[in-house]
Amino acid sequence: MQHELDDGVIRLRAWADDDSAWYARSVRDPLIQRFTTESPALDAEQVRAAIVKLRTAVDAKGFVICDAVTGERLGNIALRHDRRAGEVSYWVAAAARGQGVATRAVALFSSWCFRAVGLEELWLRAHRENVASQRAALRAGYRRDPRRDKTQEVKGAVWPMLGYALRRPDSGPVSAISTCTEPSPRQT
Ligand SMILES: CC(C)(COP(=O)(O)OP(=O)(O)OC[C@H]1O[C@@H](n2cnc3c(N)ncnc32)[C@H](O)[C@@H]1OP(=O)(O)O)[C@@H](O)C(=O)NCCC(=O)NCCS
Repeated sequence: MQHELDDGVIRLRAWADDDSAWYARSVRDPLIQRFTTESPALDAEQVRAAIVKLRTAVDAKGFVICDAVTGERLGNIALRHDRRAGEVSYWVAAAARGQGVATRAVALFSSWCFRAVGLEELWLRAHRENVASQRAALRAGYRRDPRRDKTQEVKGAVWPMLGYALRRPDSGPVSAISTCTEPSPRQT
């Protein structure tokens, strides 16, 4: 039977304590370091603490992206929200890239955020040089939203970030931009 967070190819499931070592290992990847706020010094114990916190968070959601058939872990997708709008962030482990995993995960997760969390608008930011993330966002239905552009200091450098947004399909006219803080756990 297909779960609501399963498109037959990928599945989004809740983080378990024993995912923490995999998460800490995966984020050492150069591309994740280049394009997300993940710390290279993150360890499994810090991830485990973040997973525990996430379970009761009122302003955050997050799932591990898995292969729907084998259950293999493929990546991370997260939301930080203010009950009306939210920022989505994600990464895909190096070995799973280039197979549509991010595109599927962003589409599945976004639709769940509208349906289950009740949000009206989602947005994300990708580094100007992060073409793969920008394409994944567009493929998943997001539109370029220059109002969300921002430069931010990350790891001692200034990052030019491009904004993308998606409205709930049945929602009304665009309202003021909400001001979520950075996503949790720890990615851009
Ligand atoms: C960005 C990222 C999540 C994309 O994951 P993915 O599962 O490989 O993405 P997909 O396979 O769904 O591909 C999405 C699009 O990007 C394109 N793409 C993939 N890798 C690319 C690359 N290196 N350069 C240019 N385009 C690329 C794909 O062709 C696809 O576009 P298309 O459908 O128009 O052909 C992954 O590269 C990643 O984890 N990067 C490091 C962390 C990161 O950047 N996170 C996002 C922060 S905003």
